[in-house]
Amino acid sequence: MSEMVWSSDLETGVELMDEEHQCLVAIYNELDAALMKGRAHKKMNDILGSLIEYTQFHFTDEEKLMEESNYVELPQHKNEHQQLILKVQRFKKKHDMDQERISKPVMKFLEFWLTKHIRGSDMEFAMWQKANEAAEADDAGVEEKVST
Ligand SMILES: [Fe+2]
Repeated sequence: MSEMVWSSDLETGVELMDEEHQCLVAIYNELDAALMKGRAHKKMNDILGSLIEYTQFHFTDEEKLMEESNYVELPQHKNEHQQLILKVQRFKKKHDMDQERISKPVMKFLEFWLTKHIRGSDMEFAMWQKANEAAEADDAGVEEKVST
């Protein structure tokens, strides 16, 4: 596995989301570096702690943005977030009980989140929001013309 570099294909164009998604890339890279040094198991407590904290504040922010723009797919998106939260909690439980080494599965999980959720569902919201804003701008333009 190798370090992940933030790139334009992860960019949604929604500033707050992009800023916060970079934290997820940072967590991914932290785990990757720990794996390379053979210290992933030792660092797992910190990494899972960061992930739990991150999921809480990031999903709250993202869902707030979606609520504010009356996003039609919000229930499905919230559901996806819930699945990601459950997965992190399950990892934490496994780690706390020291049932198994979870470094590689956590890495795979982060990859899934970055490739499927961000590039998929988060991107869909960003595109929807852009289209919505454009339509609103058009409406405003029409109203302006009508009123003059
Ligand atoms: Fe999301």
